[in-house]
Amino acid sequence: MSIITTAAPSPAARLLDSAPAGAVLGGAAHSGAVHDSAVRDSAVLGGERLAALAGCYAANLTLRPRFTKGSRWARRVLAGPGHEAWLLAWLPGQGTDLHDHGGVALPAAAAVAVVSGLLTEYTVRPGDFPGLRRKPLAAGEVSVVDDRTVHAMRNDSDAPAVSLHVYSPGLEAMRTYLLDETGLAPSRIKRAGEDW
Ligand SMILES: [Fe+2]
Repeated sequence: MSIITTAAPSPAARLLDSAPAGAVLGGAAHSGAVHDSAVRDSAVLGGERLAALAGCYAANLTLRPRFTKGSRWARRVLAGPGHEAWLLAWLPGQGTDLHDHGGVALPAAAAVAVVSGLLTEYTVRPGDFPGLRRKPLAAGEVSVVDDRTVHAMRNDSDAPAVSLHVYSPGLEAMRTYLLDETGLAPSRIKRAGEDW
């Protein structure tokens, strides 16, 4: 995992500028199928490319996320060759379980760009006695996660936060984990679109 300053805008970001979230993906089943095939049939992207895309999309984002009290808000907003992007909104105290990006599907690498606010990423250090590494992520920073990493993200601040996540290949499911003094244990499989 590395922290990278956001990249310069690219033409791909215009997708986010020009259409509301539902029209880009998820709102229309027929267009979603076209986009899904582009994600599925293209080559998987490497970490540097994912980081550049996440930074680019975050810097050019015009969609307005929603903040919901029950859980963090998440919406898939874009699909491109070999990747897809999700927009997430976090109120103070909201976060994910420990998870990977595989579950029952092909594992996905990811890059997370913080659009606004402050998030904290907790990454499991593998080994006989796994522990957690804590890393704050401020607006403009990007964290890259490989396809085997187990991590969690949380808004530990007292202000709302927004983040833009790019996955390659597309994120179909993730497996959650429990971590205690006995080690790391798989817990549940969550499908994309459920409570992330
Ligand atoms: Fe994740």
